Amino acid sequence: MDACFVRKTALALTVIGSAGAAQAADVEVLHWWTSGGEAAALNVLKDDLQGQGIGWNDMPVAGGGGEQAMTTLRARVTAGNPPTAVQMLGFDILDWAAEGALGNLDDVAAAEGWDAVVPEALQAFAKYDGHWISAPVNVHSTNWVWANKAILDELGIDQPADWNGFVTAMQKVQDAGKVALAHGGQAWQEATMFDGVVLSAGGPEFYKSAFIDLDVDALGSDTMVEAFNRMATLRSFADENFSGRDWNLASAMVINGEAAFQIMGDWAKGEFVNAGKKPGEDFICFRVPGSAGTVTFNSDQFAMFNVTDEGARGAQAKMASAIMSPAFQSAFNVVKGSVPARTDVPNDAFDACGKTGMQELAAAADSGTLIGSMAHGHANRAAVKNAIYDVVTAHFNGEYDAETAAEELANAVEAAM
Ligand code: BGC
Repeated sequence: MDACFVRKTALALTVIGSAGAAQAADVEVLHWWTSGGEAAALNVLKDDLQGQGIGWNDMPVAGGGGEQAMTTLRARVTAGNPPTAVQMLGFDILDWAAEGALGNLDDVAAAEGWDAVVPEALQAFAKYDGHWISAPVNVHSTNWVWANKAILDELGIDQPADWNGFVTAMQKVQDAGKVALAHGGQAWQEATMFDGVVLSAGGPEFYKSAFIDLDVDALGSDTMVEAFNRMATLRSFADENFSGRDWNLASAMVINGEAAFQIMGDWAKGEFVNAGKKPGEDFICFRVPGSAGTVTFNSDQFAMFNVTDEGARGAQAKMASAIMSPAFQSAFNVVKGSVPARTDVPNDAFDACGKTGMQELAAAADSGTLIGSMAHGHANRAAVKNAIYDVVTAHFNGEYDAETAAEELANAVEAAM
């Protein structure tokens, strides 16, 4: 175990142990939840903490997927002034823990029995060397499609059963003069689509070989060429103004009936809900055709940084406890579009898409098809993720044909390993 981590862990344990006695202060929270749906979900957390006398010092850093937020975080830590709590994903959490930058939540985790209720797949990122280092607030999943029901009804389109059916459906929409695929041209959004597309082209074992095991043969294979061909097909169904568009504006195109489909993680559902739309009536949700049965997941967690102020430490422990309460997990995730990060939360308050998401998460965990999202930092470390982003986005923007893209992907990942 890293000596620095041990020293800091011991220090943090002492402090959190005395957290009850400490006067709770404010929490400064760095996050990237700036869209309408995200802000609504964030308010659930803010209100919960404020109800306990913990003040909220907001540090939003816009940019879907969190890349900009992570850059800001690095600058804050380098300046010796880390925020108290930070929204973080997957391998980024483990990397900060390895640097000895994170506090320790073992006391609150033990008192509240987190080990028994947080799925293993999440504990893999919430614990470092056996110690709790972050509090998981949700489970999102990336291989979803969001569709405008009125457009599908008007054009007589059924929910597509497989990839070819999806392509036929998009063609029908395009022929009718509407945008078939609402897309935001940013690397992380293309990578998010790639999660579902690679699954649809190669299945879960292929996805694991390529993105988790970083098998160079899989990365450069004919199956990967097929995945890139599918990405080019998707691009042909986007409108010409997709470049640089934020993901929530792409969601708004589906919400407003300008576009039929969006491939996006279930944070998109937060936008539909925030706009007063109902699943089954206004929109439908389904897995990227060809990927059903597999769930590529990412879990937003709040990592607590080592801070010196005792009041701030007390607030960190209280915030972690608030996040993990079953009532909060239900209230928050209903608004966010995600599902709870604990297995014992009732599904009563969730809409049809949320109930499906909860049931599919549990089934995938049982069948070995719950797999970390490449696009959202749960398959590999940031260096590898960014190398994949670069190739996927260059191909999407016409820099490479599919064969060259697969070759470049294998080379780029090998160089980043
Ligand atoms: C986060 C979501 C967020 C989305 C878009 C993902 O990485 O996990 O919580 O809504 O990015 O910003």
